Amino acid sequence: MKAKDIVDKYISFFEKRGHKRIANSPLVPQNDPTTLFTSSGMQPLIQYFLGEIHPQGKRLVNVQNCFRAADIDEIGDNRHTTFFRMLGNWSLGDPARNASQRDAGGYFKKEQLKWYWEFLTKEIGLLKEKLYVTIFNGFNDISKDNESLKIWTEIFEKEGLNANERIFHYGADKNWWSRAGEPEKMPEGEPGGPDSEVFYLFDVAHDKKYGKECHPNCQCGRFMEIGNSVFMEYQKTKDNKFKPLPQKNVDFGGGVERLLAAVEDQNDVFQTSLFLPIVKSIERVSEKDYRSNHKTMQIIADHLVAAVFITAAGIAPSNKEQGYILRRLIRRGLDNFYKLEGKDIKTILTSIVDQYKETDPPLLVDFEKIKLTIIEEEQIYKSTLSRAKSYIEKKYPSTGSEQVGDEIKGVRKILSDDAFILYSTHGLSPTQIKSLGFLFDEQKFAEKMKEHQKVSRKGAEKKFRGGLADHSEKTIMGHTATHLLHQALRDILGKHVFQTGSNITNERVRFDFNFERKLTDEEIKKVENIINEKIKENLPVHFEIMTLDRAQKLGAIGLFDEKYEDKVKIYFIGNYSKEFCGGPHVEFTGILKRFKILKQENIGHGQRRIYSQVFD
Ligand code: SER
Repeated sequence: MKAKDIVDKYISFFEKRGHKRIANSPLVPQNDPTTLFTSSGMQPLIQYFLGEIHPQGKRLVNVQNCFRAADIDEIGDNRHTTFFRMLGNWSLGDPARNASQRDAGGYFKKEQLKWYWEFLTKEIGLLKEKLYVTIFNGFNDISKDNESLKIWTEIFEKEGLNANERIFHYGADKNWWSRAGEPEKMPEGEPGGPDSEVFYLFDVAHDKKYGKECHPNCQCGRFMEIGNSVFMEYQKTKDNKFKPLPQKNVDFGGGVERLLAAVEDQNDVFQTSLFLPIVKSIERVSEKDYRSNHKTMQIIADHLVAAVFITAAGIAPSNKEQGYILRRLIRRGLDNFYKLEGKDIKTILTSIVDQYKETDPPLLVDFEKIKLTIIEEEQIYKSTLSRAKSYIEKKYPSTGSEQVGDEIKGVRKILSDDAFILYSTHGLSPTQIKSLGFLFDEQKFAEKMKEHQKVSRKGAEKKFRGGLADHSEKTIMGHTATHLLHQALRDILGKHVFQTGSNITNERVRFDFNFERKLTDEEIKKVENIINEKIKENLPVHFEIMTLDRAQKLGAIGLFDEKYEDKVKIYFIGNYSKEFCGGPHVEFTGILKRFKILKQENIGHGQRRIYSQVFD
């Protein structure tokens, strides 16, 4: 069974149970200021957990490309990958009714836990003896998840397994899920809830380094988490408490790479049929073997896979946002590749695309472009390294008194201030600086880094002050403004103009679109005037759910590539704009009061960015 078979079986299993397949959302979210990358299948669905109507109904299923990296410098083990594919099924509210499968209502714990068990043991044939589960133990006023305990107990007893030995109880640090993490970390308004995870047990010894006793959440690698059912039924309130959400939702996510590891009973994800050919290509071009270099090769494989997907999403390496993450992935991947004395990464990129082309055909179409972008970054990196080296060499001539240690290896002691310049100006990480042969006081460097992070965090907080789940009135107004702006730009600049992204906070609206040149002052004025006119007309805003065909006939603008979805949601602003959108929006344009364009920017690749503001 290949990774693709697991995906196909999962989708069809849930389709048979009344779920509608929804598209894989872009890896770089188009309208979510809170995050740089899509990091779970539920992220693009957030407004539907809060009560917006989804055009495909209450039962949804998909496979979502995700990227997660808290700290890239820490990554590299047998089971974590920064890029992964998440299987997801969702129930958007309502307990199950006697609904027909064509008009299926929502469901909750009983259906979810039983179905996932059935999928694991019947559809992909995992041995039931290898499976363990965890449940939520309670937190403050939210009680222990006794319902899941009862359901799992029944499931295990029916299978002739000892439920006590199979069910583990953890607190909110392990069995609670929200986009922000644990309950205390959630901002006001954020939805979340208890979860129940399934773990697969590998036949390997426990490593006592990680604790006396092994258990599902032990980090030794004996257990692997292969699915998480979140019961999204709470919302954080003002006073750091929780209230029930208007609807009880199920949010399930399971990593394809890990399910494949379980199916193949292979505790190292990088040795599964998905990654093995990639690892083999690294072995070939470096003439080294995986066994003695596994961590190095895991990093190379992981980072280059992620780099391929991020590049395919239209990102180029840079010093900002997604581009910065991409740059760090490529450079860290290369550092590790050079450690193995590898020279040519093209073969590895080819093997990556070979492995993913069946599930992600655009990779093949764009391969030349992807390859070029990554190779170009390698050239830039090489010249950065040599510039950094000559900066130091000028400051510390090799006969200078600062030099210590082994002359032949060129190990040199430099001031932590200079090391920090290599970090902040040349973009080199501490590890990269050390690998150039420059030693420095790491504690002093870490202190400087902390100070630096404090400053940049402040900037980030300011930028994203709306916080997660910012569905504040001002942000909703900004969202409606993007629809007006989209239409007004098309009116003034031509019908070939399309939105390529947006990012809304309660302070400003950022809008990206394809256009080849700077807008003139007169064009900017015209766009502003149209929007302010539409605000004055106080147009009603409403949505309709219709077939894709009808939406196209009506001339609605927006993404038309959601190939699995037969029904779409279209937001209308009077007769002026019709656009594909999940919502939410204001009810009348008059709520916006006034609209102003603040500035425009060229963001490369034939795209421009407009910053604007709405006034209430
Ligand atoms: N949101 C949960 C997760 O990402 C389940 O989909 O793990």
